[in-house]
Amino acid sequence: MTEIWQQLNDRERATADRRITKLFDAPDRAAEFSVRTQHMLFDYAKTNIDAEIRAILLELVEQADVAARRDAMFNGDAINETEGRAVLHTALRNLDSGAVEVAGEDVMPEVLDTLARMRRFADEVRESGITDVVNIGIGGSDLGPAMATRALSPYHDGPRCHFVSNVDGAHISDTLRGLEAKTTLVIVASKTFTTIETMTNARTARAWMQDHGGDPSQQFAALSSAEEKTAEFGIDPSRVFGFEDWVGGRYSLWGPIGLSLMIAIGPKAFDNFLRGGQEMDRHFRAAAPHENMPMMLALVGVWHNQICGYATRAVLPYDQRLEMLPDYLQQLEMESNGKSVLMNGEGSPRDTGPIVWGAAGTNGQHAFYQLIHQGTRVVPCEFLVAANGHEPDLKHHHDLLLANCLAQSEALMRGRSLDEASALMRDKGLAGAELERQARHRVFPGNRPSTTLIYPRLDPFTLGQIVALYEHRVFVEGVILGINSFDQWGVELGKELAKALQPLVEGEASADGKDGSTAGLIDYIHRHRD
Ligand code: F6P
Repeated sequence: MTEIWQQLNDRERATADRRITKLFDAPDRAAEFSVRTQHMLFDYAKTNIDAEIRAILLELVEQADVAARRDAMFNGDAINETEGRAVLHTALRNLDSGAVEVAGEDVMPEVLDTLARMRRFADEVRESGITDVVNIGIGGSDLGPAMATRALSPYHDGPRCHFVSNVDGAHISDTLRGLEAKTTLVIVASKTFTTIETMTNARTARAWMQDHGGDPSQQFAALSSAEEKTAEFGIDPSRVFGFEDWVGGRYSLWGPIGLSLMIAIGPKAFDNFLRGGQEMDRHFRAAAPHENMPMMLALVGVWHNQICGYATRAVLPYDQRLEMLPDYLQQLEMESNGKSVLMNGEGSPRDTGPIVWGAAGTNGQHAFYQLIHQGTRVVPCEFLVAANGHEPDLKHHHDLLLANCLAQSEALMRGRSLDEASALMRDKGLAGAELERQARHRVFPGNRPSTTLIYPRLDPFTLGQIVALYEHRVFVEGVILGINSFDQWGVELGKELAKALQPLVEGEASADGKDGSTAGLIDYIHRHRD
């Protein structure tokens, strides 16, 4: 592997000054540097990757044995080695492909049985007088269903759905205010059923329901892999939907954690969402690496992050209903690949997962795109856009949206030279030193890489494909980097310290022995508390 990384570094140095526009001298650049599935097109032609670089990147896939790791994942091997677990969120969407074994046992009967129970429950809720569903969860038990419910709002014909995650009392308080307790269903979504934020919010919601004439014994459901704990909380087993420890929190949207989404859009549309994920799984398993969308998306990521050294990547959906996708991908990518230690226990010799951020276009254009176009740092941009919207009467809006999306990737690539900027200033009547000064501010360096994922329309099937595409991209990057993408030890220390700090904040223990900064902050809290 070391040699391949070296070759890539050499190619990067040799091509750093090349203009991406130059690569389009080859007439088939766009077709050659894009990947199609039956429904979607992923275009990475507007990057500095050429045939030679791609060939070396594909060597990484070979050498890291991505195909073998992928097959081990789908086959239920315990590839999450630090936790000794299989990684089988793919089984949750495996509607049509038969048995999946973990330690010699087919898990599909249980998966399909739970799915059938979810469908029945969702139908019951949709047909009952329930007006509002409150999903209480955090991280993967919140971001997935919240993102997807927002994304699929044109298909939302069930009760209103609300998502409460933060332990900040403001979140639950603002959400419950105005809801009718008698017609509200509370779903407590927590894989472990121990997460302090979720359990605190769940208890608050239970008290609110009791105080406002609702019946928590009938109006609470739980989504968890810790079924004894859901019983202790008092939730009837008929409303508990369980899953196994081989479903990671940030990969759990496909099963019980997706219940609020299923209630919102109905079981049929939810099935379409699963089938979209399943289709991407099939593509990921079958397509040759250079035609494999998750693999090529991952390799573009590796090129920009590990080789070119661009520390962040922006996710820019030109799709308002995907406004939560950047938040969702932050957890998916940064919790999965934000590691420093390799699978073998050694430190990583290179940077691992990038910083992922972004916002929906066109809004971002009027906020942070200035830096993306003219700042000193290069931010690879990942655009997503649908060929069609859901508003037939507002087609002109969608045309504008598409034009803006295409304009941004073109502008990033082409830029505007000093000559072009000077000509513009000349047209405005400027001359001499003033012309030159003003022109300089209007130069765009260009040569900034971006990719575009385009799809027919953001329907449940397509959303399933997109989410699965990113999951597999993160997996491939993790395998190439040699890290375990499926644990998250980095979230533990803060949790432990918060637990220990609680009595100090409450004034029941002394801050002696704490560092001066923490002690000073606690002192401020005590002096200013009502
Ligand atoms: O703290 C991180 C984390 O474990 C995430 O990985 C997970 O999605 C989230 O907390 C919520 O966990 P749970 O579903 O067990 O409440």
